[in-house]
Amino acid sequence: MVTLFPYVVAVLCSATSARAHWLHPAAPAAASRAETSANYWAQDAQAAINARLERVESVKKARNVIMFLGDGMSVPTLAAARTLLGQRQGKTGEGTKLHFETFPTIGLVKTYCVDAQIADSACTATAYLCGVKNNYGAIGVDGTVRRGDCQAASNTATHVESIAEWALADGRDVGIVTTTRITHASPAGTFAKTANRSWENDGEVSQMGLDAKDCPDIAHQLVHHHPGNKFKVIFGGGKRAFLPNTEQDEKRSYGRRIDNRNLIKEWEDDKVSRNVSHQYVWHREQLMRLKEDLPEYMLGLFESSHMTYHLKSDPQSEPTLAELTEVAIRSLRRNEKGFFLFVEGGRIDHAHHDNLVELALDETLEMDKAVATATEMLSEDDSLIVVTADHAHVMTFNGYSNRGHNILGPSRDVGLDNVPYMTLTYANGPGFRPHVNNIRPDVTLEPNYRTLDWESHVDVPLVDETHGGDDVAVFARGPHHSMFTGLYEQSLLPHLMAYAACIGPGRHACASAAHLPSAHFFVALLALYTSILLR
Ligand SMILES: *[C@@H]1O[C@H](CO)[C@@H](O)[C@H](O)[C@H]1NC(C)=O
Ligand SMILES: *[C@@H]1O[C@H](CO)[C@@H](O)[C@H](O)[C@H]1NC(C)=O
Ligand SMILES: [Zn+2]
Repeated sequence: MVTLFPYVVAVLCSATSARAHWLHPAAPAAASRAETSANYWAQDAQAAINARLERVESVKKARNVIMFLGDGMSVPTLAAARTLLGQRQGKTGEGTKLHFETFPTIGLVKTYCVDAQIADSACTATAYLCGVKNNYGAIGVDGTVRRGDCQAASNTATHVESIAEWALADGRDVGIVTTTRITHASPAGTFAKTANRSWENDGEVSQMGLDAKDCPDIAHQLVHHHPGNKFKVIFGGGKRAFLPNTEQDEKRSYGRRIDNRNLIKEWEDDKVSRNVSHQYVWHREQLMRLKEDLPEYMLGLFESSHMTYHLKSDPQSEPTLAELTEVAIRSLRRNEKGFFLFVEGGRIDHAHHDNLVELALDETLEMDKAVATATEMLSEDDSLIVVTADHAHVMTFNGYSNRGHNILGPSRDVGLDNVPYMTLTYANGPGFRPHVNNIRPDVTLEPNYRTLDWESHVDVPLVDETHGGDDVAVFARGPHHSMFTGLYEQSLLPHLMAYAACIGPGRHACASAAHLPSAHFFVALLALYTSILLR
């Protein structure tokens, strides 16, 4: 009873309050006795082989496509997040699977950009949404446009189309959902064409002495340009890019626009002039009410800037990513032709940049819940779901701890200096501690040790922890999922999705299905040839 108690508490508390972060099991859970038997692993392997053999891949057209993007969700982040998930459930954790880790096909992508060895979220968004690698900091334009070159980007010949545009051209609906500002680089990849990802509002453009007419800001593009003005669902944060700097939003934060325009109002006016049902929402309750009577167009802006980290947010006022995803799917699936939905767990990246590892892992688990929601709502037969990341981070999962060792705690052993080190640490970032008398400080003695705002220790002091240059994983489920296997360029991703969905300018699965009779033709020819030979 004594040893079980913390786990019971942890399980009960994770069910009632996700905020009970200090209740993670502190004592290591032991691996099950079954694991000590060789037979256990042999049976585990045979079960996995049988499951693979039973798989039937749908070769139908992917009517619906959802792309889930974990911003900065590196491969070590996945291993650490699944371990945390298991430990929250009172298990050792290492063998736990995230929901999307059960998808049948997994690949790896190379994330470098045209002018950058280690990518940002702008050039990667152009790769995984428009199918073209370009320069660091630029969105929806080709590699001839350098970051900040407004003139180059104002030439529409440099603009590249996103898979959202391919879907719209085929009569499908499009939605975008994120936990960051909706004008942030990843979601902007679906609709924006800009030389500089920082131009989220017109003030940012003018600040550089540029005319917002030549280089329209990202919020303006979302509301007034193709394809953003056709998106049926737009959910995220970032209200400030839509409001004048003289106006306050519902939560009393000022806007950032200097052109005195209210783009939320303009979004509504546009829908009124097109005589289509629409609703702007900024509070979770409004969103939940919409679920029952969905308008054709929805704009949900829940924060002035990014949405709050799940572990720090007020669950009454801010919806979770899973809730947003559910409403988005309910809306979009009304289109018989299907839809393309982009969902971003965008704050994994922010937490990593601040060396706040527990938040980074929890945001990963939040996105996993959103994936689970989507898989429950959509059939594997006609809906393709792809989960990936834009780039890696420099968090490492290190040491030689025992099974079940607390993933958020110090390693089992200490350094040569006899000072503990954490199982999850970073190569760089703000969590640097200066050495005292040439000895690393013992971080486990710090007063805020292991609170949500406690920064992990790092090697190199930086204001912001950096991205990593390693490959990121791709998980696919649904029609033509096996096309996503292998190690390839990130820019292949939207082409693969378009192939399965039969949209866009490239080769389509439906077209090759039409070639099937020719395969039969060759078989018939071979039979004829054989019969002649045998005569
Ligand atoms: C991008 O825009 C921001 C905001 O205006 C500016 O501070 C930055 O210098 C720009 N970057 C380039 C390379 O022009
Ligand atoms: C607007 O849409 C409604 C409902 O679809 C329709 O009844 C009405 O006639 C439309 N009004 C105009 C001016 O087109
Ligand atoms: Zn980042």
